[in-house]
Amino acid sequence: MSGEPVFVTGGTGYLGSALIETLLSRGHPVHALARRGSETRLPQGARASVGDALDAETFAAAIPARASTWYVLGPGHRWPVVLAPLYALLRMIPATRESAQRLGLVTRAQVIATLVHAVATPRPSGIRIVEVPEMRRAGS
Ligand SMILES: NC(=O)c1ccc[n+]([C@@H]2O[C@H](COP(=O)([O-])OP(=O)(O)OC[C@H]3O[C@@H](n4cnc5c(N)ncnc54)[C@H](OP(=O)(O)O)[C@@H]3O)[C@@H](O)[C@H]2O)c1
Repeated sequence: MSGEPVFVTGGTGYLGSALIETLLSRGHPVHALARRGSETRLPQGARASVGDALDAETFAAAIPARASTWYVLGPGHRWPVVLAPLYALLRMIPATRESAQRLGLVTRAQVIATLVHAVATPRPSGIRIVEVPEMRRAGS
């Protein structure tokens, strides 16, 4: 493992598990927070820390020095199914088309590509906001 260490929460979830697998394949050591009982469902190769993301005392010491940290917490898995038809409708209406394109849904591949790019290009300040068009470019 040669990359910078990364600490990920939500690593058993739809987004978090794909993020961890991609980071591991790129050589990043991944430290993953999981609730007790969920740690066995983390992707193979991740180093598990048992704790609760809503209680910092249970995991703060497990974040390695220099690690970038990603909070990919649920519940969230199903809401895009509800939003997809809504955005499709908004894209058909001239008055809302542009906003729907700018704010609309992105794919899991686009989310993962955006997060991996952010890990690879860290910034000195702690917060980075990435808008939907940039996420689409990252995943294309
Ligand atoms: N899915 C999408 O398309 C999508 C799109 C945009 C944004 N999002 C957002 O991204 C986030 C993740 O979505 P997802 O679809 O990957 O969710 P998910 O599949 O439901 O996964 C949720 C993850 O969060 C963990 N978790 C929840 N509460 C926790 C706690 N207190 N401590 C530690 N871990 C906890 C779960 O662990 P357990 O295994 O213990 O349950 C699981 O690993 C959500 O906030 C969602 O709204 C999702």
